[in-house]
Amino acid sequence: MSKDKEKSRIVQLRNLLNQHNYNYYVLAQPKISDFEYDNLLNELIDLETQNPEFSDSNSPSQRVGNDINKEFKQVVHKYPMLSLGNTYSKEEVNDFDSRIKKALPNAEVEYVCELKYDGVAIGLTYKNGKLSQAVTRGDGVQGDDVTNNVKTIKSIPLQLSNGDYPEEFEIRGEILFPHDGFLKLNKEREIEGEALFANPRNAAAGTLKIQKSSIVAKRPLDCFLYFLLGEKLPFDSHYENLIATKNWGFKVPEHIKICKNIDEIFEFINYWDVERRNLPFDIDGVVIKVNSHKQQRDLGFTAKSPRWAIAYKFQAEQAKTKLLSIDYQVGRTGAITPVANLEPILLAGTTVKRASLHNSDQINSLDIRVNDFVFVEKGGEIIPKIVGVDKMLRTAESKAVEFIKNCPECGTELIRDEGEAKHYCPNDTACPPQIKGRIEHFISRKAMNIGAAEATVEALADKGLIHDVGDLYFLTKEDILSLERFAEKSATNLIESIENSKNVPFHRVLFALGIRYVGETVAKTIASELKSIENIKKSSIEQLTEIHEIGDRIAASIVDYFKNEFNLKIIDKLKISGVQLELIEDVNLQFENKLNGQSFVISGTFEKYSRDELKELIVKYGGKNTGSISAKTNYLLAGENMGPSKLEKVKKLNIPIISEDDFIKMIEE
Ligand code: IVH
Repeated sequence: MSKDKEKSRIVQLRNLLNQHNYNYYVLAQPKISDFEYDNLLNELIDLETQNPEFSDSNSPSQRVGNDINKEFKQVVHKYPMLSLGNTYSKEEVNDFDSRIKKALPNAEVEYVCELKYDGVAIGLTYKNGKLSQAVTRGDGVQGDDVTNNVKTIKSIPLQLSNGDYPEEFEIRGEILFPHDGFLKLNKEREIEGEALFANPRNAAAGTLKIQKSSIVAKRPLDCFLYFLLGEKLPFDSHYENLIATKNWGFKVPEHIKICKNIDEIFEFINYWDVERRNLPFDIDGVVIKVNSHKQQRDLGFTAKSPRWAIAYKFQAEQAKTKLLSIDYQVGRTGAITPVANLEPILLAGTTVKRASLHNSDQINSLDIRVNDFVFVEKGGEIIPKIVGVDKMLRTAESKAVEFIKNCPECGTELIRDEGEAKHYCPNDTACPPQIKGRIEHFISRKAMNIGAAEATVEALADKGLIHDVGDLYFLTKEDILSLERFAEKSATNLIESIENSKNVPFHRVLFALGIRYVGETVAKTIASELKSIENIKKSSIEQLTEIHEIGDRIAASIVDYFKNEFNLKIIDKLKISGVQLELIEDVNLQFENKLNGQSFVISGTFEKYSRDELKELIVKYGGKNTGSISAKTNYLLAGENMGPSKLEKVKKLNIPIISEDDFIKMIEE
């Protein structure tokens, strides 16, 4: 194929794929099979790879995302991203209507009622029909630029189809995680031993913040649009504009209705308060907006929200059922949580059998008794909670709750410190769930980064193959192969991963030990001050508190940790195994003066390191980092999206521009 032909085929494929995307994700009416779609997409990817000069950041091929790891840029919103006045009461909706009628006397007011989608707000800017930027709400004034992640959401058009859209506009909407995708994601996370998302909203927010858009691309996010902003909008009413955006390619849900009076508004609210259970995504209320833009302008804004709109929120869903018994769970830190066993009941689409009771105060203050009928509510959390008792239904069967005195796992007498909300099991060295919890912390990514799932730790501990983190280093391949679901390859991987953890630097080992109050930063500070586990072990509270940022509470906890025989034995095991128990300084010293006092200015965004990490590296290797370019600047370390003024200046001063890779070579070779 000639270059010209390749170019026109690329354009043709992009148009075709955009149209099929729209048919599938917006209209839900696919016209070709997945197989045919993939063939077209692969052809496009091949042609674009062979002809990089025709690349386009809005090509449908970009929807697969990439692995680039960058921090999100903060962007100031062109129009502040306000929220809405909220209410749970119909009376206040009536008041809203009265206020509007009063402010606009003699005018006919038309309302638009919409669903209040429960997701993450997003502002999409389009220039000449192309998506140019996607920004989260942030603090309302500025938010995160999540454009690359948003580009992977198939129902958001990258290129608009009809030509009658304004040259530049912003459209706002809500990014959602539909129920089926959410349940699937949590199931996968459970299998992988990862923390579950509490609800679809959290899953959507968490996904949008992922740094690798290739992972975002694999999650089925969706987006509903509800608000058009710009200098030159096609119509003077909200409703007509929204319908117009549908023709440009946006997904605007059908469930919007023009209401002429308050009765019609309540009809819409009442209908959706019931019908919401049948939607494939979460809503948490209804939004009521004045339709006419002129009237919206006349009504204006308060400091926080528009006067022309209000959100009516539905009550969290509740159900009544019988409390059968109470179990007590022991957490990783030894904290005891009472959990209610309930007569199974359907609530917000799932069967509820258990609910958290938090602590003994909660049981007492609600006066909850076994065999009572209790109200269960599903809020933001995965586990529903008990919010009250129907005392009218209390019978002689009801039995007061006697909070347990001993740990249900190991029998140790529980304690409750003054001011603490929960009872604790103090047997932190031998109580099984606490042992497992500490091992899970030890192997976690930010600590020793050993690749084992929660279920593996559990199985190893249950089989008695490990009792503490030190035992991990004495595991053999045969031990691991004796577990279910492990084969030669996965066992070798685990052994390798444990072996690799011996290279984890001392400050992370210190963090991994799970000493109370010793988080990542404290561990770093102490490691750099005291240099080795032996020195820390020898330190008194007074010596520890001399270190900047270390207070009495942390110091006492460290001293306590090293007084404990059990912990000292763990340290011995780690020492014998070759885990890093002291700071290795020669790495720093060896490279210390590589940059020889030369001065660097950093500009743009980078792939491998964050800007702060690069600054640290410059200083560590004996260079200087300055904010602005002058004749004294030796290098401009340039990433992507570098400011044009900086570029002009370095060119004028003839200062060499180096890339991130050039810089890494300078310090590593
Ligand atoms: S309109 C200035 N319409 O709820 C008015 N917001 O509590 C802009 N939301 O910030 C918002 N569904 O994140 C509007 N149909 C809808 C909505 C909606 C959900 C969210 C949005 C907003 C928040 C307000």
